[in-house]
Parts: sequence; structure tokens; C-alpha cells
Amino acid sequence: MKIAIITGGSNGIGKATAIELGKRGIGVILTYNSYQDRAVQIVEEIEKASGSAAALKLDLSKLSTFDDFAKVVKETLLNKWGRVSFDYLINNGGVGGGMAFDEMTEDYFDKILNTNFKGPVFLTQKLVNFIEDGGKIVNTSSSSSKQSFLGYSVYGSLKSALSTWTRYLANELASRKINVNAVSPGPTHSNFGDGVFDKYPEFIDPLAKQTAFGRIGMPEDIAKVIVNVLSDDFGWMTAQDIEVSGGHLLNSGG
Ligand SMILES: NC(=O)c1ccc[n+]([C@@H]2O[C@H](COP(=O)([O-])OP(=O)(O)OC[C@H]3O[C@@H](n4cnc5c(N)ncnc54)[C@H](OP(=O)(O)O)[C@@H]3O)[C@@H](O)[C@H]2O)c1
Repeated sequence: MKIAIITGGSNGIGKATAIELGKRGIGVILTYNSYQDRAVQIVEEIEKASGSAAALKLDLSKLSTFDDFAKVVKETLLNKWGRVSFDYLINNGGVGGGMAFDEMTEDYFDKILNTNFKGPVFLTQKLVNFIEDGGKIVNTSSSSSKQSFLGYSVYGSLKSALSTWTRYLANELASRKINVNAVSPGPTHSNFGDGVFDKYPEFIDPLAKQTAFGRIGMPEDIAKVIVNVLSDDFGWMTAQDIEVSGGHLLNSGG
């Protein structure tokens, strides 16, 4: 059985991806930050459908905890699956929310930096020796890395960094035949930005109208692409960043 680790598996895109992995017979370690209860429910849902999964706590912004996390990962791999390695790493966990440029604080900058870029880089460094040669890494970047939404300059820039790093990491790991790609969602109705689309449903329609297909994405739309990119069918693809947005801003040249 192949095993995947997905960060931010307790909500939104990560949750949908964990469930999709389970359906396809892949064992899943999903991580949560604030919502242990949701993560446990997802494990139960996967296992009820004959999959196998475990939930572990991980705060991507706390690099000092990564050694302990790696230790628990090793114990979980061994105890649950009799393995000392895993096959797929999905660096998906992240925080959103914009801040007007003239009001932007250092705390906000550091939160986005540490969670969305520095965390995935050093977590991957910590785990990469447990990934099987021939394994795969997918980073969840964002279509905002190539656009310019007011208030999202730091978020978008650090997603650009993640996409660029994807390319460099693909080069670093090519000798081990590990594929490294990014999937970049457009606006997606997850729990992102503290549930911004549930709190302000009026944000949805204008964004939906900007897509070629007339709606915003659902977590399952993104999950299916991530899981397919992990499949052997995508074995010849590495160092790519695929936008999955239903053609967001396609009609305005975006
Ligand atoms: N939704 C969009 O429109 C959109 C568009 C482009 C890209 N993305 C990217 O998609 C990824 C998933 O986001 P989502 O839309 O699914 O949002 P979401 O529903 O809010 O899920 C975010 C996930 O990240 C985890 N997380 C938050 N802070 C963390 C931290 N400090 N350490 C570790 N994990 C943390 C959350 O865990 P807890 O819930 O347990 O705290 C949750 O599982 C993110 O990288 C985001 O940047 C989203």
C-alpha cells in the first residue's frame, strides 16, 4: 500500500484530498493544526470506507516542533503500516487572508511567511529521507501567485516563492526520481481565511462570474487533480505548476 502525508488535512482542500486518497486505497497521514476533532472525524470517515488513515498535530509555523513531528511520523508508519518510509508528500496546509498594503504588519507578514513557505520548505527537508525513491511531492500553491488581488501582495508573493521552490526542489530530487509539482487552485469554497466564503457569501458570485465555467471551485475539484498528479500516469511530469481554477480571469487575459 502506498502512503501519503498531507499537511492541513483537517479542512477544505486537504480534507477532500485525504478522503480521495483513502478511496483510491492509499494510506493517509493527515495533519491538523487547530481542529483535532475534524481530523479525527476524517480518519473515521476514511476507515469506515475501508481505507486507512491517521491524524497528527502539526503547526507549520513552529519549526522547533518538526523533529518531534518526524519522530511521530516514523512511529505511525511503523505501527500502522509496518513501513519505515512513505511515498507521497502533499504540502497543502496554509493560511490566507489579505491585509491592505499600507496597514500591513510584520506579524501578518511573518505568519504568512512561516506557515505558507518556510514551514513547507523545512518540513520537506525533515521528511525527505523517508520518502521512497520514485515518490512524489505536490505543493498547494495558488493562482494568486500570477495575479494581483488588492491586499494579497504578501500571500501571492509567497505562493510565487512556493511555486519557484517547487521547480528548484524538482531539480534537487531528480536523481532520486522524485517528481515535484505544484497545483495552484483559484478561488475555492473551503474554510479558507476563517471561512470567508461562509461568512460573506456575497463574495462568491463576483468571483464565480470571473471564471470561464461560471462558479468558484469546490475542494473536491482540487483534490482530484492533486491525487491524479500523484498517480503513475503523471510520472513524466516534474517541476510544473498547474492552475486549477475553472479558467479564473481567462476572459480578462489573466
Ligand atoms: N481556498 C482557496 O481559495 C485557495 C486558493 C488558492 C490556494 N489555496 C491554498 O490551498 C491550501 C489549503 O487551503 P484551503 O483553501 O483548504 O483552506 P482551509 O479550509 O482553511 O484549510 C487549511 C488547512 O491548513 C491547516 N493549517 C492552518 N494553519 C496551519 C498551521 N499553522 N500549521 C499547519 N497547518 C495549518 C488547517 O488546519 P486546522 O483547520 O486544523 O487549523 C487546515 O487543515 C492552502 O495552502 C491555501 O493557500 C486556497
